Amino acid sequence: MDITNRTALVVGGTSGIGRGLARRLADAGSTVVVGGRDTGRVDDLETVTIDVTDPGSVSRARDEVLAEHPDLDLVVTMSGVMLFEDLRDPAHFARSETTIDVNLLGTIRVLDAFTPHLLQQGRGDLITVTSGIAFMPFPLMATYGASKAAVHAYSEALRRHLVGTGIGVTELIPPAVATAGQEQVNPNALPLEGFLDEALGLLTQTPTPDEIVVERAQALRWAERDGTYAELLEQRSRPLSTLPGR
Ligand SMILES: NC(=O)c1ccc[n+]([C@@H]2O[C@H](COP(=O)([O-])OP(=O)(O)OC[C@H]3O[C@@H](n4cnc5c(N)ncnc54)[C@H](OP(=O)(O)O)[C@@H]3O)[C@@H](O)[C@H]2O)c1
Repeated sequence: MDITNRTALVVGGTSGIGRGLARRLADAGSTVVVGGRDTGRVDDLETVTIDVTDPGSVSRARDEVLAEHPDLDLVVTMSGVMLFEDLRDPAHFARSETTIDVNLLGTIRVLDAFTPHLLQQGRGDLITVTSGIAFMPFPLMATYGASKAAVHAYSEALRRHLVGTGIGVTELIPPAVATAGQEQVNPNALPLEGFLDEALGLLTQTPTPDEIVVERAQALRWAERDGTYAELLEQRSRPLSTLPGR
């Protein structure tokens, strides 16, 4: 994928991986808008306010971006929340609802908002964002894993729906990256810039891979194929003992 001459919107680009990716796209020569609820955090890129859980907000943001940038040709659906849940306590359900609303339905709302424009234009790229956890659960984040597995399945289907239209669908599958508080709790999280170096190295290959799987994500992405699934799931279940009453 060429990233030097694009007009891109990174929804969920107001912090973390999305902001880093947006910066890299801009530094490579692309025109970039970042979206999120808290746009006040960004002073070096054009912003648009968008809450992906609110259909009205999504269509307003779409209209605003397309009015300013009718040649928009790259949309990244980066918005996501990562919430811990205790599934023995039914009160976790509120977290399930939020997670599905932002990570899954929010992704679909944004894709639906921009796909007609890209179809009309006859070219463009959509980048969806899942996680290694889509392929290898981390039981403390149960609905998170479910939401990302769903976005993976959805991305696979969307790619087939768009065959022959000139629109590509690429799934970014990060491992733990040192953003969103991961840097405090996970000493193994990859530093953001190192992750971006590797991810962009893969993204800019021709042809663009369907999935961007950096080395650290491969053990999770391919655990089932590699026969390591049961052992890894066991390891990744140990933090459940940190929940109250366990
Ligand atoms: N960090 C990791 O270890 C890791 C690993 C695998 C996958 N991922 C995925 O990578 C993506 C980015 O994660 P991150 O680590 O960079 O987290 P982050 O720093 O918390 O960034 C999350 C982004 O999502 C946006 N967002 C959250 N709720 C939103 C809403 N309702 N409407 C619009 N935007 C919303 C936030 O913007 P506002 O707050 O301004 O709305 C922010 O820009 C997520 O999809 C995450 O699941 C992260």
